[in-house]
Amino acid sequence: MNMIEIQENAELFDRNTFHVAAKARYFVEISDIDSVNEFLASDLAAGNSLFILGGGSNVLFTGDFDGVILHPAIKGIDLVSEGVDHVVVRAGAGENWDDFVDYCVRNNWGGIENLSLIPGTTGASPVQNIGAYGVEVMDFIDTVEGLYIKERKPFKLKAKDCRFSYRNSIFKTELKGNVIITRVSYRLRKKPLFNTRYPDLEKELNNYDETTVANIRKAIITIRTNKLPDPAEQGNAGSFFKNPVVTKAQSESLKPFYPTMPEYNMKDGSVKLSAAWLIDQCGWKGRSCGKAATHKKQPLIIINRGGASGKEIYDCAQKIQKSVMNHFAIRLEMEVNIV
Ligand code: FAD
Ligand code: EPU
Repeated sequence: MNMIEIQENAELFDRNTFHVAAKARYFVEISDIDSVNEFLASDLAAGNSLFILGGGSNVLFTGDFDGVILHPAIKGIDLVSEGVDHVVVRAGAGENWDDFVDYCVRNNWGGIENLSLIPGTTGASPVQNIGAYGVEVMDFIDTVEGLYIKERKPFKLKAKDCRFSYRNSIFKTELKGNVIITRVSYRLRKKPLFNTRYPDLEKELNNYDETTVANIRKAIITIRTNKLPDPAEQGNAGSFFKNPVVTKAQSESLKPFYPTMPEYNMKDGSVKLSAAWLIDQCGWKGRSCGKAATHKKQPLIIINRGGASGKEIYDCAQKIQKSVMNHFAIRLEMEVNIV
């Protein structure tokens, strides 16, 4: 089997969950680690700009890509070590994230069940430190392995060196564009500790007799299926913006004017505000913007109403950003990676 597949002038429509049409000069799919190294040494890699694409569920292509889109399709799940109360399990970057969560839940390994049904690949999970329903993947990552692109040298980073924070990591900052993640190891609990404090989850779990990792997964799947638009029906990339983190003084200055404004106190004393709420207050819920729109239940999600270009979606995002800036003097930062 050929481990490197090269396609020229490739259509990306089915490779991004916004389902915007865009072409890549080259689309390269690589299914083993040695071949990643081999490819990086090639003229094709050296002579072109490179972008790594996993499942395309957090990217927006605003035009054609005149370079190489590299898709790591490295598969495999293996048990690295096992103790009395934990396992370390490693997944190839090309494994589907939710299939991996399902595999762990079936083994009753606890930790990432709250992250059920997040689209994309395991290789992307450390990039923005995926999170949902009170859990962030940083708490369960053991090691991230990959290759530096220019130097073609392998790296292995422990979680503490990945500079994880809310929707951020070293892979979105210092190492952005410089690495290919090939495998990620997760440290999970054989005796699960449940995280059920998120109000929606707590409520949904009332429908189950016991709290188990399997039931948490089921509950999360129910909540997400009812709330979030399915990219197969309405193109989207989940939350378009991050929830803004402001100083205590900033949030306190808004409170007298907006007493119902949701706030979450962070460990470092700063305050996380709800981007959905801010956007909603600006009258953006379910509002169309050319062929794009904000979702009717969750205005933080921008959807493709059909046939929208990436540029059109980007313009819509900028209009939302402007509204929130004018109304609240808060700058919303895009979570989606603009290409
Ligand atoms: P891509 O979109 O392909 O890439 C994302 C970024 O990671 C890009 O910058 C890319 O270059 C980089 N990257 C990807 N793979 C690699 C690699 N192997 N090596 C180096 N860099 C790489 N996110 C959450 O955190 N929580 C949620 O609850 C959530 N819900 C969502 C719901 C929906 C309906 C959708 C569509 C998206 C949601 N997301 C959520 C966003 C998205 O699922 C995650 O960001 C996911 O991790 C992206 O994975 P991907 O493989 O599709 O990455
Ligand atoms: N809200 C409104 N109007 C609405 C919807 C929500 O005002 O129409 C307010 C409500 O106050 C609500 C609050 O927004 O309580 C929070 O809403 P939600 O629980 O949906 O969470 P979120 O902060 O909007 C975040 C993540 C999601 C993740 C959920 C669940 C970010 C940027 N987004 O959304 O992640 O699934 O929490 O934990 O942090 C993603 O990153 O792509 C993503 C979907």
